[in-house]
Amino acid sequence: MEEMFTILHFILIGYLIKLTAGTLFQYTPAPEFYPAPYNVSFHRGDVAVLSCSIYNLGTKTVVWRRIDSSFPLTSGTMTVIEDKRIQVAHIEFKNQWDLTIKDVRPEDDGVYECQISSKDRTVRRIITLNVVERKVEIPEINITEPQYIERGDKIVLQCNATGEYYPPDEIDWFRNGHKITTNITQGVQISKDYIFEKKTFTSVLKIDRARMQDDGTYVCRASNMQITNTKVTVLNAETSPIKRGTAGGKLTKTDSSVSWSSSSQLTCNYINMLNIITSWILVNLYYNS
Ligand SMILES: *[C@@H]1O[C@H](CO)[C@@H](O)[C@H](O)[C@H]1NC(C)=O
Ligand SMILES: *[C@@H]1O[C@H](CO)[C@@H](O)[C@H](O)[C@H]1NC(C)=O
Ligand SMILES: *[C@@H]1O[C@H](CO)[C@@H](O)[C@H](O)[C@H]1NC(C)=O
Ligand SMILES: *[C@@H]1O[C@H](CO)[C@@H](O)[C@H](O)[C@H]1NC(C)=O
Repeated sequence: MEEMFTILHFILIGYLIKLTAGTLFQYTPAPEFYPAPYNVSFHRGDVAVLSCSIYNLGTKTVVWRRIDSSFPLTSGTMTVIEDKRIQVAHIEFKNQWDLTIKDVRPEDDGVYECQISSKDRTVRRIITLNVVERKVEIPEINITEPQYIERGDKIVLQCNATGEYYPPDEIDWFRNGHKITTNITQGVQISKDYIFEKKTFTSVLKIDRARMQDDGTYVCRASNMQITNTKVTVLNAETSPIKRGTAGGKLTKTDSSVSWSSSSQLTCNYINMLNIITSWILVNLYYNS
């Protein structure tokens, strides 16, 4: 019986020795950084994230600092400096030790290092943080230039509206104050499209055969309160004194170089000075023919 115990004893002692030796002389692989971007950009005011994940960290500590400073920003999961914006986003199972800076500012711009505590300060990863100003996008709305259409011809108007952060939700069309909707039997069609990367909502109004009552002011109104308008003049070619045939011949090249950008001014003149608009129509018909 006593012998039996002695044998067990030896087995047990032998096992313990093996265990101890295992931990003492165990090969510990060197820590290694996961690949991650070395150069990152964030907009002022955003949360900047500088990635640092490490394999085989073991019991070592991760320290973040600005490269030009010997004083650490963080050590382990603790923020060392007096700046509430700075934190370590640590996720144990991902071996992640990201540095996060809330409300990032231009003065945070610079080079940082994620360092594994050791005598050797070269066990580190260097990341450049760029803090860029957010481009202010001013919402805007554009509509097709004023049109002169002959009765029976097609009217095509386009309206583009941009938003500050995303496209407007909707565009509505009005003619002389009345809302226009798609009506296939009347040949009226409104198509809509988003261009997200340009933050633009674009809408095309098509009227297959212009009637005299399609003449008027067309308003395009976007859901973000932007509004613009254009004028469509429907010409009755048969009864109009200005016929296609009489329009072109006498116009010179110089006349036809009237800039489209001056059209809004010409439209204003319509009310007061009939002569000017008449010549404008001539120019336009010349283009059409
Ligand atoms: C880092 O990115 C910024 C912005 O994209 C760029 O201006 C800069 O030249 C880059 N720096 C390096 C070292 O690649
Ligand atoms: C609207 O946007 C489209 C596509 O970007 C462009 O081709 C068109 O000329 C624009 N129309 C107006 C009225 O700005
Ligand atoms: C509106 O027109 C201006 C000037 O032509 C142009 O710069 C801008 O990109 C246009 N915007 C849209 C949404 O079409
Ligand atoms: C389309 O127009 C016709 C003729 O004016 C009208 O009777 C009909 O109700 C309209 N349809 C729609 C869907 O508005």
